[in-house]
Amino acid sequence: MALAIRFHEQYQPDHSASLRSESLAGFAAEQKSISPKFFYDRRGSELFEQICQQPEYYPTRTEEMILRLARQQIAELAGRDASLVELGSGASRKVRLLLEALHPSSYLGIDISRDFLLSSTHRLAADYPWLDVHAACADFSQPMQLPEEALGEHPLAFFPGSSIGNFDPQQALAFLRNLHEALPSGAGLLIGVDLVKDSDVLERAYNDQAGVTAAFNLNLIERIRNELDSDIDPARFSHRAFFNKAESRIEMHLVSREAQQVRIEDQYFDFDAGESLHTENSYKYTPASFRDLAGQAGFGAVAMWMDPARLFSVHYLQRE
Ligand code: AVJ
Repeated sequence: MALAIRFHEQYQPDHSASLRSESLAGFAAEQKSISPKFFYDRRGSELFEQICQQPEYYPTRTEEMILRLARQQIAELAGRDASLVELGSGASRKVRLLLEALHPSSYLGIDISRDFLLSSTHRLAADYPWLDVHAACADFSQPMQLPEEALGEHPLAFFPGSSIGNFDPQQALAFLRNLHEALPSGAGLLIGVDLVKDSDVLERAYNDQAGVTAAFNLNLIERIRNELDSDIDPARFSHRAFFNKAESRIEMHLVSREAQQVRIEDQYFDFDAGESLHTENSYKYTPASFRDLAGQAGFGAVAMWMDPARLFSVHYLQRE
């Protein structure tokens, strides 16, 4: 069999170095914190796939429904021979909803989790033999450079799942400006954005009954213990998620069950009982607030779709 996918090795960053330096810096801060990008090792990526199937976690199935209903329109907007670039492609499941309608000339999956990226792009290539499949490992919170051969004439960037919600509005703007820089003028951007709504619905989505979100959150501590020289113990932390209305974001924390000292390498960090390590923000937008943000980065609104209950939105924007 011919080479099924093209992996662009040169874009792979060194995540172990950044887990180390970002943990040490994050644990030393007044409000201890660590970036949610570190959730996604292989186990974390699998747990995230399980979150997406929980009955309380509405974003995934709602976005999929929207994409199914809108895909013909999306295909018309993207035009013939688009090259699809998926950011944070994960299991590359949602893109399957678009492939038949869009029939792109190429697909580039970009993700921070190398193993997960490789296995999911290989599966995609096997299932869609006519598709030219590329993969690149990247941390897109950094300025990005996309492999030219995978961009083609009419790129359509696809950023599903409201992953943009992990950035605060300042960072989201910087990310969109980086993307603006990396794409040619006229390129499309199809982006899923979770909407502001009733706090109960939001909080249930991040506190599923089965405890998968809790396991996902605690996996960060497993990673620090396994990948760094540290005595940190997941059994001494508990999961907490709540909606911060003033900031329009879900916050996830790992709360210390007791007063304790944690060692990472040769550094010691004190936790009071109840003190938290802030692990994630998930910002929620209104259709107008997101359109405004994208506009500031040079992406013009073309179309937007929502489900009837207005849980989730998908925007089609054009790089100016
Ligand atoms: C991948 C950032 C969109 O914020 O809903 C799910 C991650 N965290 N449950 C989200 C997540 C806890 C997810 N995003």
